[in-house]
Amino acid sequence: MSRTPLVSGNWKMHLNHLEAIQLVQRISYELSNHDYDKVEVSLHPPFTDIRSIQTLVDADRMKFKVGAQNVHAETKGAFTGEVAPGMLAKLNVSYVIVGHSERRQLFDETNEIVNAKAKAILKNEMTPIVCCGETLEQREAGEAESFVESQIRGSLAGLSAEQVASMVVAYEPIWAIGTGVTASTEDAQAMCAHVRGVVEAMKKGTGGSVRIQYGGSVKPNNATELLTQPDIDGALVGGASLEADQFARIVEFGQN
Ligand code: 13P
Repeated sequence: MSRTPLVSGNWKMHLNHLEAIQLVQRISYELSNHDYDKVEVSLHPPFTDIRSIQTLVDADRMKFKVGAQNVHAETKGAFTGEVAPGMLAKLNVSYVIVGHSERRQLFDETNEIVNAKAKAILKNEMTPIVCCGETLEQREAGEAESFVESQIRGSLAGLSAEQVASMVVAYEPIWAIGTGVTASTEDAQAMCAHVRGVVEAMKKGTGGSVRIQYGGSVKPNNATELLTQPDIDGALVGGASLEADQFARIVEFGQN
């Protein structure tokens, strides 16, 4: 089954809305129309930038998908400081990252919370990018596979086969995030294949459809090798997504 790769830029807490507009224009300039023939591209700026980017993308008919980095699971209510899924949907947001390791570690997001958010995103006709990934200690103890499996099982619990088939999972080993240390191609491919197997075991018939990204120090010089693996369907890019030329080269992986 052919799966369209998704390359996503997670800007984390970087760039105000004016800087964001500049970066989107630069990335657009770096890419040509045919770059989007085989790859989908989503940009995940901070909340305060989304409206500006959406306006720019619409006005200039850019081919980027607008994304977000987080959302609250509830429709509305007394949740000071939070953003509801419907608010993102109204901004034409297509993809929402949930359960990033920084949110799991720094903001105590559990699999249950990630699961509730994924359901809320799907209900609002957007696509969740559900993140998973082990610590270095877990990898060294030989627990990486079982830990990632428990994250996937918890985060995807109760979703229908159709929903699971349509979504995206991002495997990001925590020790590879922002460190310049990438998982070896073999390890990244093996874990993405494992995730696909877990998804298939949870919901029969979905393993061939679900897209699985790799994330963790993806750069232009390692993108081609990583992203041409059979079970890796794109990348979730942090640092390199803030540099227009680097991000564009990653989007163009394997196409030149
Ligand atoms: P880096 O690409 O900076 O390692 O970040 C990865 C990441 O966390 C993307 O969500």
